[in-house]
Amino acid sequence: MNDWLDLEKQCAECKRCALWENRKNAVIGRGNKSADFMLIGEAPGEEEDRQGRAFVGKAGQLLSMALSAMGIEDDKYYICNVIKCRPQNNRTPYEEEIESCMPYLDKQIDMVKPKVIVLLGNTAAVSLIKKNIRITQQRGTWDVYKGIPVMMTYHPAALLRDESKKIDMWRDLKNAWKKLQQMS
Ligand code: URA
Repeated sequence: MNDWLDLEKQCAECKRCALWENRKNAVIGRGNKSADFMLIGEAPGEEEDRQGRAFVGKAGQLLSMALSAMGIEDDKYYICNVIKCRPQNNRTPYEEEIESCMPYLDKQIDMVKPKVIVLLGNTAAVSLIKKNIRITQQRGTWDVYKGIPVMMTYHPAALLRDESKKIDMWRDLKNAWKKLQQMS
């Protein structure tokens, strides 16, 4: 547990990139810290920055509803972001920001020890898989990070802009969950 407190303190005091200047809160993650199922998004939005909790805005609510409809309640997963501080106007994080913040995410993955990871959107996929990834083409496919199977899918914010993506995302989440059930 001390490791989590250390991480929270480090993130709250972090000045590795310029994003600290405008943050209200560093956003670490939420959910079950020993879950087998982990989801990783991009960066906190306005509401997350305000509350200091991951995925509590519109996109997060949509995702929680989808997961809950599949029987995956909040206590069955851990969810966090690649970047812990909000980029202004929700712009895509810069490469240097991602590089500065990755050690925190790696630490989280080491502590949670998930058996399956879902990467939500392009930034998460590019940051962890380090390939020329286009989520529109790669979604629904598997890769591996630190020996852990990772499924790539859309970011829930993309679904708010384009409802037609919902079916594919639902399918990807279900497949990721199914893989976990088959492993245990
Ligand atoms: N988008 C993200 O990627 N993460 C959040 O926590 C909220 C919106």
